[in-house]
Amino acid sequence: MIIRHLSLTNFRNYGRLELELSPGATLLYGQNAQGKTNLLEAIYYLATTRSPHAEHDHQLLHWDAGQAEEPVVVGRLVAQVSMAKAQERRLEMRLILERNGRSRHGGFRREALVDRRKVRLMDLLGNLRVVLFLPEDIQIITGSPGDRRRYMDITLCQIDPVYCRTLSQYNKVLEQRNALLRQIAEGSSSQDVLPIFTEKLVSMGSQIMARRAAFLRELARETQRVHYEMLTDGRETIRLQYLPRLGGHGTGMPDTADIVAQGEWLQVEGTEAAAIKKRLTATVHQAQAQDIARGATSVGPHRDDWRFLLNGRALSNYGSRGQQRTAVLALKMAEINWMAATTGDQPVLLLDEVVAELDARRRAALLQTVRTAHQTILTATDPGMFTREFLDNSTCLHVENGRVNLPVTNLP
Ligand SMILES: Nc1ncnc2c1ncn2[C@@H]1O[C@H](COP(=O)(O)OP(=O)(O)OP(=O)(O)O)[C@@H](O)[C@H]1O
Ligand SMILES: [Mg+2]
Repeated sequence: MIIRHLSLTNFRNYGRLELELSPGATLLYGQNAQGKTNLLEAIYYLATTRSPHAEHDHQLLHWDAGQAEEPVVVGRLVAQVSMAKAQERRLEMRLILERNGRSRHGGFRREALVDRRKVRLMDLLGNLRVVLFLPEDIQIITGSPGDRRRYMDITLCQIDPVYCRTLSQYNKVLEQRNALLRQIAEGSSSQDVLPIFTEKLVSMGSQIMARRAAFLRELARETQRVHYEMLTDGRETIRLQYLPRLGGHGTGMPDTADIVAQGEWLQVEGTEAAAIKKRLTATVHQAQAQDIARGATSVGPHRDDWRFLLNGRALSNYGSRGQQRTAVLALKMAEINWMAATTGDQPVLLLDEVVAELDARRRAALLQTVRTAHQTILTATDPGMFTREFLDNSTCLHVENGRVNLPVTNLP
């Protein structure tokens, strides 16, 4: 797929931007703090409804727009996208801040539109698919389980609307169940209705786990291939291992050996949601007394984790920095191929400053992938790090203080 046109209003440091985009590679270059990353963030936001950087979405609104004393401030992101089979779509996200006398950010809301018709936010997903490369991607390996769940969820939600809906329902049921557990602990509610919430929780939870297991299995295969064929000399084998919270032995909490064993079982091809549901039900029941005491649900996909194994050892504990970087690059490159194979259309690649920190071999591998993609948008402070040949085959755009222009002079 290809983004033909991007239009931004009051988004970060862009007051107003109208930008035609070409197929192939586009290099956004310019000094620090000019708006290169903000532009990639805007595209990513339209694709995923999430920002990789902002803590709160109202931070995405241009701060000058927020200072005027108007009662309503609107930020707007619009992309014209062409998909395979010649379909065209107009995607729009509105960020609306209404100052109605309550707390400053209390009146913030978002609206999504596809072809000018209002849709639910989650229905925006899947219309534009992207794979984002950031220098901080290494956190997928070294960061928290929450970082790794977020990676799985955002990637899966771009291609699987059923998964996305189930996940959102699961989170609601989890909240309700936790509230009930607290009430039971305080004595303000009986245990009578708990089984209803537990049943909903395990039913949706097992569907989520089945999908995640299949996702990791498919991605693992491709990651191993890319890692082996393109990035290393085949000396190292890489695996992705699912670590679900399943399989306690009567005491409630599953231990590490349980979790690894259940993860191995889940990753066997053909493991069905019904079989997972049985085990999840047993684990949730075992943990029930403890959950009531804590006022929180301790097992389920909201506590999932997964990890990389390099030659059988955990990469987060034993891998060198370079090995970790290579693994995460293999994962991202695999994600591109996986998305293309699953949907029949190439995702748009967004590369923020990543080329600068790769060594020659990994840089060549990544740029090879860029060459076969329909569209890639890269950022760099110094275009000099790219080869003449690469620059000749790319569209180079200069970013300066929230404006994007064709360069006036030839690039160095
Ligand atoms: N809500 C906002 N309103 C206006 N400006 C903002 C807002 N949020 C961030 N900025 C500003 O946008 C500017 C550009 O940020 P961006 O991260 O896109 O820079 P960059 O070109 O990628 O720079 P670098 O090369 O340092 O990565 C920053 O100076 C930042 O202060
Ligand atoms: Mg930047």
